[in-house]
Amino acid sequence: MAKKSGYQVIVVGAGMIGNEMVKVLRQRKFPMSELKILARSSRKQVFDGVEYEVRETKANEFDGFDLALFAGTEGEKGAAVTFGPKAVKKGCIVIDNGQDFRMKRKVPLVVPEVNADALKNHQGIISNPNCSTVQMVMAIAPIHKISRIKRVWVATYQAVSGTGTAAYKELQAQTRAWCEGKPIEVKEYPVQIAFNLFPKIADLDPDKFPGYYKEEIKMILETQKIMGDKRMKITATCVRVPILNSHSEAITVETEAPVSVEQAREALKNMPGVVLMDEPEKAIWPHPLIASGNDATYVGRVRKDSAVKNGLSLFCVADNIRKGGALNAVQIAEKLMEMNLI
Ligand SMILES: NC(=O)c1ccc[n+]([C@@H]2O[C@H](COP(=O)([O-])OP(=O)(O)OC[C@H]3O[C@@H](n4cnc5c(N)ncnc54)[C@H](OP(=O)(O)O)[C@@H]3O)[C@@H](O)[C@H]2O)c1
Repeated sequence: MAKKSGYQVIVVGAGMIGNEMVKVLRQRKFPMSELKILARSSRKQVFDGVEYEVRETKANEFDGFDLALFAGTEGEKGAAVTFGPKAVKKGCIVIDNGQDFRMKRKVPLVVPEVNADALKNHQGIISNPNCSTVQMVMAIAPIHKISRIKRVWVATYQAVSGTGTAAYKELQAQTRAWCEGKPIEVKEYPVQIAFNLFPKIADLDPDKFPGYYKEEIKMILETQKIMGDKRMKITATCVRVPILNSHSEAITVETEAPVSVEQAREALKNMPGVVLMDEPEKAIWPHPLIASGNDATYVGRVRKDSAVKNGLSLFCVADNIRKGGALNAVQIAEKLMEMNLI
């Protein structure tokens, strides 16, 4: 339960995720006595139908605040690296959406339905996993509880909202241009995304995982950390598709002991935050439009893998901006309240 009737909350970043964070905080009635929004530049901006003053991010803006939800850019000069540790020194708990702290040993990487206990050891910074990792662990954790998963194969179909506001607008602009027979401008991606797809998300990392792009490496390492199982063997192929919002994933797992389709479906049905949509004979399965704007991770097509002993295949879809980002961050904050950690 909340120790305070209202917390002083900062959202850093006013793009796709920052916008959704403000919306989710309001929708879920997170107890706030103050909400401040920071970005690179100051201006007025409408969030969820309400106009807010956006202020330029500076260290003194964190003075006296309880909680800072970061949704700025990543990297050395990004918002979280520049201001996250400073915010912690000023007494804020930081929940970061980017990749900068996720694999640090002392930073909990949390999907509240799966590993909330990791929050107990937080030292000021808590990381939200990568969007494609969040929905995968939501879908496989209930199966892992029945029998340890020793191997995971995943292929993703990732929406352009995952790249941020500019890419979202580019898919809309390219689609419009294509329909009107006008020239197509390519800025955000290596190739045209409208009426196309490509198997590259982020950059290569030849030293650690030759041939893999970093989104794929994140899925591997982050899943192992969240599931607390470094021996879990995972391979991923991440693909950007011309979908505005919500990521889809085709996943096959191999468990140590056999798990029946019925057992897996029952476990998924009982998993908080998961909605089972699995009636293939009636063409009922998850798809991006079903998940968009909603909180659940939708799972369907649960079936025995005919090629692997103890293998199960499934398809899952979630809103990458909500469960893959803003919602998961706010759920972490709610868990901190519930566990008396804030
Ligand atoms: N999109 C997703 O599905 C998703 C999912 C999970 C995690 N994430 C992560 O969440 C973060 C935000 O993603 P997004 O999609 O919301 O990006 P976005 O739409 O491009 O918005 C980025 C926001 O960050 C602000 N910003 C950038 N650098 C900053 C700095 N140094 N200090 C303060 N503010 C800064 C920008 O400010 P201005 O508006 O003033 O330029 C902008 O408002 C990224 O780290 C991303 O990797 C994204």
